[in-house]
Amino acid sequence: MISEDTIQKVKEQNDIVDVISESVRLKKSGRNYSGLCPFHHEKTPSFSVSQDKQIYKCFGCGEAGNVITFVMKYRNLGFTEALKLLAERANIQIEEEGQKTVRKDPYERLYKINTEAARFFYKNLQGSKSSKSYFLGRGITEGTIRRFGLGYALDNWVTLLKYLKSKGYSELDMLNAGLIIRNEKGNYYDRFRNRVMFPVFDSRGRVIGFGGRVLDDSKPKYLNSPETAVFKKGTNLYGLNFSIKNKIEDRTIIIVEGYMDCISLHQYGITNVVASLGTALTINQAKLLKRYVDKVIISYDADLAGQSATIRGLQILKGEGFDVRVLTVPQGKDPDEYIRSNGRDAFLKLIDNALPLIDYKIKRAKEGIDLNNHEMVISFIKNAAEIISDLNPVEKDIYIKQISEEAGIKEQAIYDLISDNIHKNSSNMQDMNTLDNFGQKLYVEPSYIKAERSILRLMHDEKDAYDAIIKTISKDQFIMESHKKIFDLICENIDLDHKERQNRIELNCDNIESSKEWTHILEMELIYEDEDFEKLILDFTKEIKKYRLEESKKEIMNKIKQCELNGLMDESLKLAQELIYIQKELGRL
Ligand code: UTP
Ligand code: MN
Repeated sequence: MISEDTIQKVKEQNDIVDVISESVRLKKSGRNYSGLCPFHHEKTPSFSVSQDKQIYKCFGCGEAGNVITFVMKYRNLGFTEALKLLAERANIQIEEEGQKTVRKDPYERLYKINTEAARFFYKNLQGSKSSKSYFLGRGITEGTIRRFGLGYALDNWVTLLKYLKSKGYSELDMLNAGLIIRNEKGNYYDRFRNRVMFPVFDSRGRVIGFGGRVLDDSKPKYLNSPETAVFKKGTNLYGLNFSIKNKIEDRTIIIVEGYMDCISLHQYGITNVVASLGTALTINQAKLLKRYVDKVIISYDADLAGQSATIRGLQILKGEGFDVRVLTVPQGKDPDEYIRSNGRDAFLKLIDNALPLIDYKIKRAKEGIDLNNHEMVISFIKNAAEIISDLNPVEKDIYIKQISEEAGIKEQAIYDLISDNIHKNSSNMQDMNTLDNFGQKLYVEPSYIKAERSILRLMHDEKDAYDAIIKTISKDQFIMESHKKIFDLICENIDLDHKERQNRIELNCDNIESSKEWTHILEMELIYEDEDFEKLILDFTKEIKKYRLEESKKEIMNKIKQCELNGLMDESLKLAQELIYIQKELGRL
């Protein structure tokens, strides 16, 4: 019997999207992932995987289940076999209940041979002036060389092979560890030659593989161990064992790209640093980190590859619930170069200034945008709307204000774009958690929208209110186009009775926007006790006016900025007068 705990752990550490992705090509679609169902033949995807719920379901053939049932079905295995396979995948030891003796680690021999190789490389470095001075020349101290076990693979074909043989290891052992290569003729030779060596440790400090760097500019710059039973891409983070040893403070970690970045920062006493070794972060790495930290600061190269790796990594981390920040190293340097030329304090400052994920994305979207170029502004707003579309209502509101100010675009336009995106997304989505999706997509509407809806609803419901409204407000005072249209429709049909009018308006709302608004208006909860419609109407119209004034205020402030930039002082003074007037009006409201 395998314990409940173990089963739970196996499920937790095998993300369903990762596992299924190994056999099915999944594409993100809304909140879920979809692909072609592996259990029946189909041409259009109806197989859907939910990361939140850790389940899959095929809308075509009805297959459904969790990560364990997937492996059972897909590989035709029994429960225990599937569980064992997943446990192995996540490096989890299965201790069957009642079985007292803990099984010997099946990979022990691999760890041992790797450790032996690391020792050998280390000794080589100590005996080789040129490779030692390579590290010293890059500012790495003797102490750091020792702590990180840095070494050197000699410029020969079979030195490591011979050494490991003398220690009792076979060629098969060495092949399993990725330390030697077999050529077509069946001869074996060392994988790493004439390279400085970085042993890669797992979080428990065991050597699982190596990276080797050339001493000059030849290619490839870094050569890494191949995948082995203990060296799995995307499951480990370089330097994590050292961070843990030094105690990770504030549950915060910095992720850099390269070996040298990681080592260099550690040497400068910034020890909460790990390296992802040039690849994009994976869910497994995020889960590993989750045990130790809640906040991740990602610091990748400023080059484009670095930046898109950043975005992908951030997405994954965000998905695992981390507080995510982005640290940008100035002057196109990497963290190692930067700290060496600017010192520890300068780097600490960069850490303090790291941007939250959304701010970073918006900043990137804004790069190169000329605010005087309409097309550019439109495409920036579109991108920005997409970026903030997943946020919660409060955050969304904050960012919309900020974007609207920066680009000089009305807030409403951005809200419209977002709600447009929502409609587009929801219409082509097969969804197994409609409710969740709905909840996620709600956004805070500016209060004038509610005010306009309330007015229209009053007009439709109460004849007295209707009379009062058409005396105080005209169609053109409404902000939303769809509301103007509905205003007209109510007026045209005011002589019909309530129900008939409703039908007539429904029929005449011929575009999505206005029919959607009409539904909102009918469904809104409008509570009024006394029948003092005039007061009610006044409050609603104030709300609309306030919005208009705030929009013009923003517009004018932007214009002033432009005038000042272009030295148009007279113009800017005139605008300032207007601004004062608007302020006064706003104050009155
Ligand atoms: P970089 O090219 O940014 O190099 O690769 P670096 O870390 O700054 O290296 P130095 O400072 O020139 O020594 C970042 C990381 O990507 C991986 C390595 O892990 C490297 O540290 N990489 C890079 C490879 O695996 N292979 C390569 O050929 C290059
Ligand atoms: Mn570098």
